[in-house]
Amino acid sequence: MTHHPLMSDQTLFRNPDLFEFDRLPEQFHYRDTQVKDLAFALRPALRGTRPLNTVLRGPPGTGKTTAVRRIFAEVEETTQAVVPVLVSCQKDRTRPAVFARIYEGIAGHKPPAVGVPYTKTVDEVGHLLTRREAVLVVCLDDADALLPDGVLNEVLAAILRLHESYPGVRTGVWMTVSCPALDLIRDLDRATFSVLCPNEVPFPPYTAAEVRGIIGERVLVGLYPGVLPPAAMDLVVERTMACGDLRIGLDLVKRAVLAAEKEARTEVTVEDVLAAYSLSRHLYVEIAVRSLTAGERAVLDAALSLEREGGGPVTAGMAYERVCAGGRISYTTFHERLRKLEHLHLVDLAVRQEKGRTRVIEVRDGVREVIAPPVSAGSSGTVPNRCTGVADDEKCGYEGGRR
Ligand SMILES: Nc1ncnc2c1ncn2[C@@H]1O[C@H](COP(=O)(O)OP(=O)(O)OP(=O)(O)O)[C@@H](O)[C@H]1O
Ligand SMILES: [Mg+2]
Repeated sequence: MTHHPLMSDQTLFRNPDLFEFDRLPEQFHYRDTQVKDLAFALRPALRGTRPLNTVLRGPPGTGKTTAVRRIFAEVEETTQAVVPVLVSCQKDRTRPAVFARIYEGIAGHKPPAVGVPYTKTVDEVGHLLTRREAVLVVCLDDADALLPDGVLNEVLAAILRLHESYPGVRTGVWMTVSCPALDLIRDLDRATFSVLCPNEVPFPPYTAAEVRGIIGERVLVGLYPGVLPPAAMDLVVERTMACGDLRIGLDLVKRAVLAAEKEARTEVTVEDVLAAYSLSRHLYVEIAVRSLTAGERAVLDAALSLEREGGGPVTAGMAYERVCAGGRISYTTFHERLRKLEHLHLVDLAVRQEKGRTRVIEVRDGVREVIAPPVSAGSSGTVPNRCTGVADDEKCGYEGGRR
């Protein structure tokens, strides 16, 4: 029999699946407080009453979706009296899509008719819940994706007011949000907000030690011993912190190990990690750029085009002027957008002390490569975004106020 390279069983992975993006981790450390808060929010539902509506807020890759998936799985295992439904709003962005998903979550199959008004599906959801005598908990994952056209407002109103048409029906809503400035008080109708009245569970970024702990655990289970030597691990942790998203770290390990495998080595080198980083980084920047609002993207584009023109360091003032050329915004708004870019690790803001306090914008490595030059300077409204999806940026809550 000839040797077939694809069938080679020389692998450094004990379990390659552990490094996949959407893998639900076996161990979920460093989120005890959040899990406890969520369990508390759910407790009323286990007694047949309304759960606490909750906003889970934190930057990308901080375990929000994971926390919900774990808790919902546990609920499904323990009781029939509570029906948890996770709606991925990046995927289901319209009212009919969201309610079809909710229906499916309760009934176990898709709603029978397509093309009927979504209010019909809402009614069917009401009937099902009445018959089942179950409490409904919907998690709108990445809820900011529903902001355009008031979809979020209407979806929330329909879920939370179901008991008005179906007495005895109890419902609650959780929402995960990664936009730091999303301000529900401003983005929802007053009436909707007052029924929602959510409590917030913050998901802060992981510390370097926590990142090391999480990645280390996967490495321990997923790789053979000694495959990732300490120096390589240190570099993985450092680069993950620089990106601020755990997914990059997991991706980095996977790619570096594959590279070592390819060269038939049994150990990952620092060079493997560095080479993997340029690929993972690209992936991260793509995700981050896709999550920007049109207004945030305009600020990034302005900084990039100023940089490209090569007139020395790009100051915040220069970028502000450039952005305003395409439509005036307040400096506060501009500054909030700049901070969001910093928060996503797309730019660094350095303070120069020369004439007063000048802020210099430095676009981080890898961003130029992901963003093709804009068609014309100042045009920016082309990227659909996760926060509002609309060019009207006043919606995302950057006018000061609550954080
Ligand atoms: N405490 C943890 N322990 C182990 N793995 C974790 C932990 N937190 C996050 N992860 C892993 O990191 C990845 C990202 O987590 P998750 O999808 O929950 O982030 P998120 O906060 O929902 O991000 P986004 O805002 O981008 O949706 C997942 O692969 C998850 O398994
Ligand atoms: Mg998520």
